[in-house]
Order: sequence, then structure tokens, then C-alpha cells
Amino acid sequence: MNPILTLESVSANYGPFNAIFDVSFSVNPGEAVALLGANGVGKTSVARVASGLITPSSGKTIVDGVDITGARPHRFVQAGVAHAVEGRSVFASLTVEENLRLSFQRVFGRSGVPTAIEKAFSEFPALERRRDQLAGKLSGGEQRMLSLARVLVEAPKLLIADELSLGLAPVIVKKIYDQLARLRANGTALLIVEQQVGHALKLCERAIILEHGRIVWAGPSNQATERLAMRFTEK
Ligand SMILES: Nc1ncnc2c1ncn2[C@@H]1O[C@H](COP(=O)(O)OP(=O)(O)OP(=O)(O)O)[C@@H](O)[C@H]1O
Ligand SMILES: [Mg+2]
Repeated sequence: MNPILTLESVSANYGPFNAIFDVSFSVNPGEAVALLGANGVGKTSVARVASGLITPSSGKTIVDGVDITGARPHRFVQAGVAHAVEGRSVFASLTVEENLRLSFQRVFGRSGVPTAIEKAFSEFPALERRRDQLAGKLSGGEQRMLSLARVLVEAPKLLIADELSLGLAPVIVKKIYDQLARLRANGTALLIVEQQVGHALKLCERAIILEHGRIVWAGPSNQATERLAMRFTEK
């Protein structure tokens, strides 16, 4: 079976600034991998390459056995890669329902929208209660739920989730991780970028640690905590 995602010696830059260097790893179908590291080490940049939001300057992005390096993000979605991006990624001036409609129409076509919306609301009843509210007026946690609902319903082969827990109350974080665990149980592979390492490591069996844009360690999650602590005390 092909890995669902392989990055092969990927480097990427923003103009003259090189953000990631020679990054290689795979995520197998149904597997959960944590991508860890301090602020600014390149986690989001790796996530962006993996979902086609940025094109690497060198190296390959292979999705489900097909090299789609340089393809448009839309092609990555078609290949089964969904990306819950960092930060508040909702359209603030549209309602909750309009936000969902927009995403689902792109993926499922107009006729698929009602079923997808129903599914999103059954997964996130809090959103249904606010279906007519402007997304910009949702709480931080509700906005993250909306971002997640938009990608979850696509039933992706791989979900890339970037800092889902940032700034959220523990009870909401737990809810979001419960959703991720459920998604995983249904066969979706996960690439989890997370500052709250405990949550990510509990969910994932493997971890990758980045420093200054490079992978410095990869191994089983239960060894990652020790490794992270070691790096911390070295400094
Ligand atoms: N759009 C951009 N233009 C220019 N430089 C960028 C851009 N996005 C990120 N960078 C730079 O690339 C480097 C890696 O950023 P990235 O966002 O990938 O880090 P990160 O590990 O996700 O950090 P954080 O934990 O703070 O989210 C940083 O030094 C950052 O300043
Ligand atoms: Mg980031």
C-alpha cells in the first residue's frame, strides 16, 4: 500500500527566506503523525507544502503514490488531502451556514451541499445553533470548530491540522481531539501540528521534530517527550 503522503527532500522558501530544508517523511494510510517544534521552525510551512498551498523549491510531494508537486491546492483536495489551516480561517462576514455552503459546494457540487451541511451540524451541534450567526462573531473555539467542520465532512484520506488547540479552553480542546480520534477510527490519516504536545502525542503513534527548518528527530511518540525535554534542557 502506498503512503498517503510522502515528502521527498523538500525545501521551500518565502522569497529570499529559506523556511524548510531537505524535509523527508511519509504518512501511511490511517496513521497519525505529530509534527512538533518551537515557534518559527517551519511546521506550518511543511503543512502548506503537504497540501499544495506552497510549492517547494526542490523535492517532491507524492500523494497516494502520485507525484503532484507544484499542482494547485484543489488537486490536493481531490487526491484526498484536507488542511485545517492555522489561525482563524473562516469568512468573517458570512454566516456559519454560508461558510459551510461555500466549502462544500467546491468539493461536492451544488447537489451535495445539503447532505454535507446536515452531517457537519450533526457532528457539531454548537454550530447548528449558530447557523445564521456571522462567523466573525463566533467565539474562538466555535471558529475552530467551523474550520474543522469544513474539512471533516470531506472525509479526507489525510487531514492536516495546524494548531487546532491554540487559545482554546481545555474542554473545547478535548472535544476537538475526540473528533480527531473518531475521524482516525474511520480511517483518515492525520498529520497534527501542535504546541500542546500532550494531546498530539496521545493521539499519534509517531512524531517528527523540526528545528530551524530541518527534521532533527523522528520516532515513536512515547520517546518524543523525552527527546523534547532533552532539547529544552540543552538550551
Ligand atoms: N508568508 C511568509 N512570508 C515570509 N516568511 C514566512 C511566511 N510564513 C512563514 N515565514 C517564516 O518562515 C519560518 C517558518 O514559519 P512557519 O510558519 O512554518 O513556522 P511554525 O513552526 O509553524 O511556527 P509557529 O509555531 O509559530 O506557528 C519563520 O521564520 C517565518 O517567519
Ligand atoms: Mg505554525
